[in-house]
Amino acid sequence: MKDLLSIYALTPSTIEEMIGRAKLLKQLSQSSKMCLSLQGKTLGMIFEKSSTRTRLSFEVGMTQLGGTAIFISSRDTQIARGESLQDTAKIFSRYLDAVVIRTFAQQYVDDFANYAEIPVINGLTDLLHPCQILSDIFTLSEIFCDYSRCKVAYIGDGNNIANSWINLAAKMPINLSLACPKGYEPNVEILARCCNEAPGSVLLTQDPFEAAKDADVLYTDVWASMGQEEEQEKRIRDFMGYRVDARLLQVAKKSAVVMHCLPAHRGEEISADVIDGKQSIVFQQAENRLHLQKAILEMLMIGGKKGE
Ligand code: CP
Ligand code: NVA
Repeated sequence: MKDLLSIYALTPSTIEEMIGRAKLLKQLSQSSKMCLSLQGKTLGMIFEKSSTRTRLSFEVGMTQLGGTAIFISSRDTQIARGESLQDTAKIFSRYLDAVVIRTFAQQYVDDFANYAEIPVINGLTDLLHPCQILSDIFTLSEIFCDYSRCKVAYIGDGNNIANSWINLAAKMPINLSLACPKGYEPNVEILARCCNEAPGSVLLTQDPFEAAKDADVLYTDVWASMGQEEEQEKRIRDFMGYRVDARLLQVAKKSAVVMHCLPAHRGEEISADVIDGKQSIVFQQAENRLHLQKAILEMLMIGGKKGE
C-alpha cells in the first residue's frame, strides 16, 4: 500500500491490521511508553480547508512517534501562485517522507499521489474522509465485541463521511443504513459498487426512523460541509426531521452509542442532550483519530518494521 486515498482501496485484512496496531499504540501511549518508530521521518501537511482534529492528531501523532510534521497552508506556498501539481508533488517527494492533503477535489489527491514518490494521505476531500471512518471503526472495536456486525445508522447529508462509511461497508460485514433527504443522497457510484460487493448489508432510505431502528450506532455529521456555507439556510430547512435527538435515539437499541465526527452544531443535526448525553462517545471518537492515524503513518512510512 503506497497511499491512503480511499477506504475502498484497502483490503479487510489491512483494516484489521490498522485497528490492531492502533489498539497497541493507544495502550503504549496510555502507559507512557515511548514508541519512536518514525524517528527521522518528516510528514508534510497541505491544508486548503480548516481543521482542528485532523491537523492536531497528525502533528501530535508524528511527535509521539519521534518524527516531525510540517504544516503547509497552501496560500503561503507557490501552489497558490500556480506552480503545477506535478512539480509540487515531485519537490515534496525530495524533502518529505509522506504528505497529508485536505482539499476540495478528490481528483487533486489522486493526481498528487500519482506524481508523488512518497505516500499521500487523504485528510478529507469533498468526496471522502477515510481517516475519520477508519478511526471510527477502531472506536467501535473498543465498544462492541463483534464490531464488524454492528448496525450503523447514518442520519443526514450524503457527504464525504457518508461516502466513506459506504466504502467501509464494501469491505467489512457491517450493516449500514443511511437516511438522507431527497436530493442529498450519497455518491451514486460509491453506493452502487457497495451494493454489489458488501459482505454485510447497506440500505438507503429517506426515513430516519427506519434507518435508526434497532441500530447499535447512531451517527451524524453537519448539514452544510466546508465549502457549502452559503447553502446553510436552505439546508437547515431541507434537513428538518433528520436531527439525531432523544426521539430518534429511542428507536435504536438501548445499548446504542451516538457518534459525530465533529465539529457539531447543537440544535441542528444533533440535539445538545444527545451529544452531551450518556450514550455519546464523540470525545473517545475524536481521541482515536490520534491512535489510528499513528498506525496509518507507520504502515505507510515504514511498513512492517515497527519495533515495539
Ligand atoms: N472530524 C474532523 O476531521 O475534524 P477537523 O475538521 O477538525 O479536522
Ligand atoms: N462533512 C464535514 C466533515 C468535517 C470533518 C465537512 O466536510 O465539512
